[in-house]
Amino acid sequence: MYKKIVLSDGDIPTHYYNLMADLPFALDPPLHPGTKQPISPDDLAAIFPQALIEQEVSAQREIPIPEEVREVYRIYRPTPLIRATGLEMALKTPARIYFKHEGSSPVGSHKPNTAIAQAYYNKMEGTRRLVTETGAGQWGSSLAFACQKFDMECKVYMVRISFDQKPYRKVMMQLYGAEVLPSPSPATNAGREALRKDPKTPGSLGIAISEAIEEAASNEHAKYSLGSVLNHVLLHQTIIGQEAKKQLGMIGEKPDIIIGCHGGGSNFAGLAFPFIRDKLHGSDIEFIAVEPESCPTLTKGKFDYDFGDTSGTTPLMKMYTLGHDFIPPGIHAGGLRYHGAAPLISALVEHGIVRAEALPQNDVFRAAALFARTEGIIPAPESAHAIEMAIHEAIKARDEGRQKVIVFNLSGHGHFDMSAYQAYLEGSLENGRKESSDGDKMSFGVAC
Ligand SMILES: Cc1ncc(COP(=O)(O)O)c(C=O)c1O
Repeated sequence: MYKKIVLSDGDIPTHYYNLMADLPFALDPPLHPGTKQPISPDDLAAIFPQALIEQEVSAQREIPIPEEVREVYRIYRPTPLIRATGLEMALKTPARIYFKHEGSSPVGSHKPNTAIAQAYYNKMEGTRRLVTETGAGQWGSSLAFACQKFDMECKVYMVRISFDQKPYRKVMMQLYGAEVLPSPSPATNAGREALRKDPKTPGSLGIAISEAIEEAASNEHAKYSLGSVLNHVLLHQTIIGQEAKKQLGMIGEKPDIIIGCHGGGSNFAGLAFPFIRDKLHGSDIEFIAVEPESCPTLTKGKFDYDFGDTSGTTPLMKMYTLGHDFIPPGIHAGGLRYHGAAPLISALVEHGIVRAEALPQNDVFRAAALFARTEGIIPAPESAHAIEMAIHEAIKARDEGRQKVIVFNLSGHGHFDMSAYQAYLEGSLENGRKESSDGDKMSFGVAC
């Protein structure tokens, strides 16, 4: 029995896998915010480089990864696939639980997988500065790291609530050479408008996106960079699932259930898409995208056209949405506080290929604590949504006496989330109770 399955440098994927080539349905096109007509690639040229625009609309199944990008990936990839034996034992489940440890990257999450690619393509086209938003700080840190690798400037609008909750994420970004501002900020029209409406607003990813786009569009040497949602971002993340597939193959395992947390969709897509290809060719695999109950985009949102940001400057995308002016409560999984969802994931949910589930914050932290105690890794609160769902499925397998193979994405570690864990241990999480919401506090067989 293997605890972890590791690959060597030579196993880093050579191509990104593009699910668009295998989709059995067409996606509704993004619309121009002014004309409400389908946008043309040229409409995106003010904020994105050509190579990424081409990837955004590409139907080519495999897109080669430039050697310069693979070289930076070599710093931390391939990431290990780990069997959660401690968790399995604690749950007394016959299920075999594996997780892809994306928290082992230098910044602590899956986000560098696309940050490195985006910085590279921008650099090739002469961009000097990348501007972005960040929620939890994982994406901002990743872009700061990637810009530093390709000798570019980086500016990050960090959602106010996370800016306050995670001061050391800001230090990390600054250490990589980035400039960091709390969002909303008085530096942009979008920020000033949000502050005028509510000077005490915790901010949101939607507002921060508006600020970053506004700055990128008004500076000819700058471009905007997004850490999730868009097709090209999901595309870059598919190296996760390609590696996982190889790793499972090495030990003769086939997944029954694939799980990822869902903010904008990128880590879920990264693990799931290469396996969704198998499902579309007949494999029996269940896919579960997990979101917070307090920001239930996929489970309670409308499948409709909406803006990706708060000010309404992005193209209208057909997606699950809670409305572009929705400000989620200040839960600790800052990376999941997004009103919308990737159009690709939204369509997969709409077509019944992916199932969405929403979980309350306290249950998620209880799962995170159990995982820390059984596997030793303190997960990011975002990733803990996937853990809680994996636990739920493993308990179901136990109750049904079935040996399911469950694979989830550990999208990040939680080393910068100690204030959240402190609140959990003190029983003072917002909207929180000490007991589990299902009244099943001890069902894991472990007190946590
Ligand atoms: C650790 C971690 N996991 C998940 C997410 C959610 O993003 P996505 O749905 O794009 O993977 C974030 C976003 O910041 C994150 O930091």
